[in-house]
Amino acid sequence: MKTGIKIALSITLLSSLSFAGEQFAMSDSDRAMYTDMLENNPADLMISNGEELLEEYCGGDAGVAAFFNISEDDLPAYIAGFPRYLKEFKQVVTVSQALQGLMSKNTHKPFKLKSSDMFDMSAYVKTLANGEKSNIDVNADKYIKEAFVLGEKTYMTARGGRGLSCNSCHSADIVGAVLRTQPLPDLTSKGVAVAATWPAYRMTKSSLRTLPRRFQGCMKNALLKVIPLGSPEMVALEVYLTHEAKGTEVAIPGLKR
Ligand code: HEC
Repeated sequence: MKTGIKIALSITLLSSLSFAGEQFAMSDSDRAMYTDMLENNPADLMISNGEELLEEYCGGDAGVAAFFNISEDDLPAYIAGFPRYLKEFKQVVTVSQALQGLMSKNTHKPFKLKSSDMFDMSAYVKTLANGEKSNIDVNADKYIKEAFVLGEKTYMTARGGRGLSCNSCHSADIVGAVLRTQPLPDLTSKGVAVAATWPAYRMTKSSLRTLPRRFQGCMKNALLKVIPLGSPEMVALEVYLTHEAKGTEVAIPGLKR
């Protein structure tokens, strides 16, 4: 399996790969802008918008806590454990999907998963977990166990015209390589906190994006069939990578190239 991936990778990517140090991910001016934005993340505005939307459509933090049948004090740790299986939904859901359920319950038409309103509102809710350790429990029940297995499979399976999997570009042994000027980020080594830094502001998109939306970007770039937001495979991918970030501190919004 591993050899297969390496061979596939060398055939399809070798021409476009070089190794870190030879090229830089950002120009000096981009780097200056990045440093500036770290102090003043433009996503903060979008997250304030999300807070207002949550107030209007979901009854604010208190409404969310009541929907989950927990106290407001327990909300941060609870949010840090998503995606999770929820009985009312009969499936493993993300924070965004849970908020859709709450909007419907409040007789509002739920925001679409790919809408910027949903990005803003779910990002706000996720900021409630800032400072908590990501605590997804992939052994909590059989549903989340299945989602984890499906997520790992989706991550490892080579697909598309170039026969690439997520792991082809993101495994520990390829990390440090550079693809078209971008260093390949390690997503699955122990202690890698990537999932705990999304939603994030993407400088190249000038907008706030969620983790599954970022996955879709990679799928598009690498010619893998784009998996729809909210589908079992997409939720499973989020479960898989969130588990990899387990124990790291939630720090949202992230700031990304
Ligand atoms: C062809 C190589 C390639 C493949 C295949 C690929 N990615 Fe990526 N991915 C990249 C590169 C390069 C970046 C960094 C881009 C940048 O900095 O803008 C990246 C960035 C990411 C990030 C953001 C990391 C961060 O720092 O927050 C995530 C998450 C991600 N990929 C997930 C996936 C998933 C899930 C898949 C499979 C569906 C996948 N990628 C497939 C090359 C790839």
